[in-house]
Amino acid sequence: MSNKITKSELAEIKEKNNGSRSYTNGEVTVYWRSHLCIHSANCLIGLPKVFNNSTRPWINTQGASSADIMRVVNTCPSRALTYIKNCGNALSRAEKAASGKSPETKIQILNNGPALIRGNYVITDADGKKIKVENEVAAICRCGSSKKKPFCDGTHHKIGFTD
Ligand code: SF4
Ligand code: FES
Repeated sequence: MSNKITKSELAEIKEKNNGSRSYTNGEVTVYWRSHLCIHSANCLIGLPKVFNNSTRPWINTQGASSADIMRVVNTCPSRALTYIKNCGNALSRAEKAASGKSPETKIQILNNGPALIRGNYVITDADGKKIKVENEVAAICRCGSSKKKPFCDGTHHKIGFTD
């Protein structure tokens, strides 16, 4: 799985003032969207010298090589963490790739956590409100305790939800 940032994700970060952050070592820039974090801890376990939520800032891009940072960012299941390489035409390549439509929509059930849906689709919530998603990932609550239903807000982790 690649967590290279897509055009629509970049646009979301630029357009919405939703607390997204970016961290760079000059070679690679890591984007953090806290509202998408489902607390799987893959980042904290995979590269604790870079991802450490007991320090501020919690992402230290000097703590490992760019290759290792990208490898671990790729393990973030919800795309709360994404990255872009800052060399050459990496940005335009990512934007071109992002402009193509996903060929299919994929659903992945995480153990003891949400269901992830990737691709282009429309979610209709319980009140009939439609939410269009394009080339993005959405984490849908399975534990029943999220305060942001239908989306996961990480509560499954706090309550110790198990399948
Ligand atoms: S969802 Fe991503 S950012 Fe959140 S803890 Fe897991 S790997 Fe880290
Ligand atoms: S599955 Fe994450 S809050 Fe319910």
